[in-house]
Amino acid sequence: MKIEPFGVEIWMNEWETRCTYNLAETCVESLTIAGLLQLTGRNSDDLSEVLGMKMTYGAIRGSDRLRDAICGLYDRQTRENVIVTHGTIGANMLVHKTLVERGDKVVAVVPTYQQHYSIPASIGAEVTQIHLRAENAYLPDLDELRAAAVPGTKLIAINNPNNPTGAVMDRDFLLEIVEIARSAGAWLLCDEVYRGTGQKGSGMTARGGRGSL
Ligand SMILES: Cc1ncc(COP(=O)(O)O)c(C=O)c1O
Repeated sequence: MKIEPFGVEIWMNEWETRCTYNLAETCVESLTIAGLLQLTGRNSDDLSEVLGMKMTYGAIRGSDRLRDAICGLYDRQTRENVIVTHGTIGANMLVHKTLVERGDKVVAVVPTYQQHYSIPASIGAEVTQIHLRAENAYLPDLDELRAAAVPGTKLIAINNPNNPTGAVMDRDFLLEIVEIARSAGAWLLCDEVYRGTGQKGSGMTARGGRGSL
């Protein structure tokens, strides 16, 4: 497989450990385990549950307990629809490699995490990029997306909240994208790795509580 070098990661690898101020970092300040316990209203006694745990292979799809907890983030999800991966990089890779084949049409917003256009391109898909622009508050232009998502498009890849712009698509906007994907017969990959980091309302992507699709 011939894949484009992952530009941002190569650049970060070079610079992020030796700069004074890291303005490129997209993550929130890392918590300590003690800080996490405090935040969740627990204390170090709760770690006793972990100490006796054998580090076996574990459940291949993720434990039922974890998958149920993930379902709790969504309005209508069941355990059967949830699979746990080693981070979002792994999840994105699985989705692209499972759905996209040589010659397929894929639409991806840009800028976003490079996986969403470089993986399908490496598979031999025809990738159309939808450029996010300042004049549209870095939201995808829906007419442009509609025109790009021709019938038979295999996958539309979006990212919400968007990295690097931070733009957030609300529920109504997402529903319009769902409709565009449905009309084209396309799968919709919504990379929500930053879900919950919003500074307004409940901190979730869509207006009005959990509001997830
Ligand atoms: C949009 C997006 N998706 C996926 C990832 C990778 O996520 P993870 O660290 O969970 O693998 C990143 C990391 O920056 C990202 O910005």
